[in-house]
Amino acid sequence: MHGPLRPSARDKEEIVGPRSRAEFVRAKAITPGGSMRSAPYFPPQPPYAMRGEGCWVADVDGRKIFDCANNFFSLVHGHAFPPVIRALHDVIDSGTAFGLPTTLETELAETIRARSPRLEQLRFVNSGTEAVMFAVKAARAIAGRPMIAKFEGAFHGAYDYVEVGLDSNPQNWGADPQSILYARGAPSSVAADVLVLPYNNAADCRRLIEEHHARLAAILFDPLASRVGMIPAEPEFCEVLQDCCRKYGILLILDEVVSYRLAFQGAHGLFGLEPDLVCLAKIIGGGLPVGAVAGPARHMAIFDHTKGKPPVSHGGTFSANPLSMSAGCAALRAYDQEAIARLNRMGDTMRALLSEEFKKEKLPTQVTGMGSLFRVHTKTSPIGDYRSSFSSPSQKQAIERIHLAALERGYLLTPNCSGALSTPMSDSDIRDMTTAIVEAAKDVNQQSPWE
Ligand SMILES: Cc1ncc(COP(=O)(O)O)c(C=O)c1O
Repeated sequence: MHGPLRPSARDKEEIVGPRSRAEFVRAKAITPGGSMRSAPYFPPQPPYAMRGEGCWVADVDGRKIFDCANNFFSLVHGHAFPPVIRALHDVIDSGTAFGLPTTLETELAETIRARSPRLEQLRFVNSGTEAVMFAVKAARAIAGRPMIAKFEGAFHGAYDYVEVGLDSNPQNWGADPQSILYARGAPSSVAADVLVLPYNNAADCRRLIEEHHARLAAILFDPLASRVGMIPAEPEFCEVLQDCCRKYGILLILDEVVSYRLAFQGAHGLFGLEPDLVCLAKIIGGGLPVGAVAGPARHMAIFDHTKGKPPVSHGGTFSANPLSMSAGCAALRAYDQEAIARLNRMGDTMRALLSEEFKKEKLPTQVTGMGSLFRVHTKTSPIGDYRSSFSSPSQKQAIERIHLAALERGYLLTPNCSGALSTPMSDSDIRDMTTAIVEAAKDVNQQSPWE
């Protein structure tokens, strides 16, 4: 499946072929906006995927696209990874879901615990959203308090409480971060039970946590939050959060839905944190739907159903389904220390190359990220948190156009120009991706400079 997308395609209308266009017309009649999820949509429309292999996706028009986004960072081995496909074949003939436990769920849980001893026990769910929701419910039950804290701009899925402060903007964000509701119609009581904190700002976080500690059950924290700019949390900041949690009996919930891929033991090991609960998803399902809440057994006991009604009930018709479990085992087995170190090195190389080229070409762009994750920004001022990463309308438009220009060259980034490397990528793939992104930014900047 090698070879770039038709490089002559330049016009926006030509980004997708006639079959994708016809499919979009069909989809618009059956689903709002013509897309079953908002995240993959971008105007004029995305191409429809037909099949994938390694780093490549072929769309319904037969065009080949190099996948730098890997289904929003979840496919750490790219598409149709042979060990995952074999594992699925091994189980699928025996049935897809049971109203009974399977040994595969224990196997995946043991695999994760062997990498991260702090995660003594786990419960599987079907998405990162669910993992975060159950972790928040568990924390409230454990602490006996109603409120959670989260960081301005940080995305943790679709649970009302964790959406608070997700899209604050200069018109409404105030001096201290405000508890701004996200979904229209969300009750104001939701905002009253969410404290929004400034990322990477140790002093203000300590002050705000001290002010609210008596009502706080948990601090929900992603140490490399993509929507906060994809800037690693600073060590002093991590220490302050951990210290406040210990001092005031607040649970630290680490959202490792994306950042688990950064290290063999997960992000908490890498950042030197001792979370009370960890949320996992994405790569632990090997490309199938999955999520997990994990942590020390004393906290996970909140879900124990064997002594009557548990403090927090957890179920899910398809939770721990054997397909996701077996795919997850196969994916994690192959994502060993060596594979992680290689991918992280490649990520370091790519970000360094991008920075160098952006500078050489005098483009008003920069790249952030860590390990195998990267995000391109159309601004040059230093980025350290949500506010400094916030794009002006022209910077936002430039991101959208770079995304399209990269796709014209046959490279798929997420619509906000971030990406995640996958193990089938080679060093030359990294160089080609870098060239495509730089050329895309150059084109856009030549046509309409944004800074
Ligand atoms: C950090 C983080 N947490 C939670 C979620 C929600 O995961 P899901 O899309 O599986 O519900 C996401 C999704 O991208 C995420 O990036």
